[in-house]
Amino acid sequence: RRVVVLISGNGSNLQALIDEQHHDRLGGEIVAVISNQPDAHGLKRARDAGIDAVALPHREYDSREAYDGALIKVIERHEPDLVVLAGFMRILTPRFVQRFLGRLINIHPSLLPAYQGLNTHARALADGVAEHGCSVHFVTEELDGGPVLLQAVVEVAEGETEESLKEKVHAREHLIYPIAVKWCLEGRLQFADDGARFDGTPL
Ligand code: GRF
Repeated sequence: RRVVVLISGNGSNLQALIDEQHHDRLGGEIVAVISNQPDAHGLKRARDAGIDAVALPHREYDSREAYDGALIKVIERHEPDLVVLAGFMRILTPRFVQRFLGRLINIHPSLLPAYQGLNTHARALADGVAEHGCSVHFVTEELDGGPVLLQAVVEVAEGETEESLKEKVHAREHLIYPIAVKWCLEGRLQFADDGARFDGTPL
């Protein structure tokens, strides 16, 4: 099974997926990594792992539609079964989402549906929540609003800072994203109109 990963930056989640693949535990192969930021560190991680690393700078396109059209072409060249957003910091057009609906997933640093959008850790801290975390979800046209398929919870400690919370959540992201990718590739998790469906086989 073939996976394409989209990134914009550091790519630590990408690295977690690469590490899993190296242990033959991903259930598929990352065939390409694409970044809208040409200097993203994640592209180096991909190259170091022998994975096709593609820079597709959004600045070279006049509109979101034009960019996403080009992105669709590059992705489809790699014939993916699953498209994985791992810190891809762009809002996708409906056309893009429709094209990959059901095989497009994202990881978001909050317990969705809480804290959609940016600055999730600061907002959670400001609200004084006891628990925070991260979510893997299918991408739909509603930003950070698609069906959730896996979450990890962290406790917010006393004296927690935005930085420490972010680090804790990040560590959990690296644990759950490879699991979610594997389950999608195995067909155990599927997109349904009314949510994510788990096929019920024992974990
Ligand atoms: C993560 O916090 C993820 O939840 C969000 O973007 C960040 C990407 O981090 N969508 P990295 O590039 O994988 O280190």
